[in-house]
Amino acid sequence: MKITITENKKVKPDFSKLGFGKYFTDHMLVMDYKDGAWQEPEILPYSSFSLDPSTCVLHYGQGIFEGLKAYKDAKTGKITMFRPYDNFKRMNRSAERLCMPTIDVDSMVEWLKELIILEQDWIPTEPGTALYIRPTMVATDAMLGVHPAHNYRFFIILSPVGSYYASGLKPTKIMVEDNFVRAPLGGTGEAKCMGNYAASLLAGDIANKLGYEQVLWLDAKEKKYVEEVGAMNMFFVIDGVVKTPALVGSILPGITRDSVLQILRAEGRPVEECRISVDEIATARAEGKLDEAFGSGTAAVISPVGVLRIHGEDMLINNFEMGPITSYLYDKLTGIQYGRYEDTFGWIVKVN
Ligand code: PLP
Ligand code: COI
Repeated sequence: MKITITENKKVKPDFSKLGFGKYFTDHMLVMDYKDGAWQEPEILPYSSFSLDPSTCVLHYGQGIFEGLKAYKDAKTGKITMFRPYDNFKRMNRSAERLCMPTIDVDSMVEWLKELIILEQDWIPTEPGTALYIRPTMVATDAMLGVHPAHNYRFFIILSPVGSYYASGLKPTKIMVEDNFVRAPLGGTGEAKCMGNYAASLLAGDIANKLGYEQVLWLDAKEKKYVEEVGAMNMFFVIDGVVKTPALVGSILPGITRDSVLQILRAEGRPVEECRISVDEIATARAEGKLDEAFGSGTAAVISPVGVLRIHGEDMLINNFEMGPITSYLYDKLTGIQYGRYEDTFGWIVKVN
């Protein structure tokens, strides 16, 4: 892999005030697809791309991305990533759904390690921070016909991040969306493609104006069953059982979701992947059986939900406090990610 080192290193931000996705490191990895094959990847100074105005991703959104994190131990300087193979495997599934070429997962993890080692001074070590990794693939043909492109650009950029929600670990307020839908069955809901996020913006914007952080999407057909939130999968603790919507095809198969399920199952705790109707949640709340609700995601980690608005009515959950299962999972998952606990699942991949 060709590596070009920048001569203009940026001034690093204050790692205690990072927010999410605002700063980018000095280098990026770029790999182009042409003549039916991926070309040699390159590490280059972070810079703008120049694109023809007719570039098809700019018109038809043939683009996919991923999100994963790397962590550095402040004392030893040892760097790790969390489940990177699973992210690139999911990216390949997204690629197939969007008629894009797949990548070689093992090689990509190795190239990513090289990029991270080069940028290791950018990995924050303050509690709750990490290096967020954003692999992306876009169609780059300069043409206006609606058909799969022949040329693609794959790139990885890196961003030192703090917590995804401005409120940090404080419970969030989420609004169940009755009007707009995110993804019908047969659509692109289980792919991590750009259009899913564009389509979610209006509902999110309306929810923000009403004082809610995010919307909780319902199934597109009956608008009855809960699916997921904009950047996280959802869990509800009902009468001691941890329930999460089943992966029916319209929901992103979250890697954090899978990690939560594996942690709970390994301990023999009752968990269910099932259809969960909003009515079941409202009834459980009325009967005092809705113990906790939380979201899971790479950016959001484990995020408690303190208020859920269902059909225009605010339901307070666990007194707007982080519940015991939510805080247990937050501690266990981040403990494995930051190396405080042993990784018995084989999720941690060493970088250096
Ligand atoms: N759902 C959506 C729509 C997302 O964008 C994300 C974030 O990637 C998730 C769920 C959580 O997935 P993961 O745990 O793999 O980050
Ligand atoms: C992630 O958790 O990686 C996400 O994709 C969330 C995001 C869209 C910022």
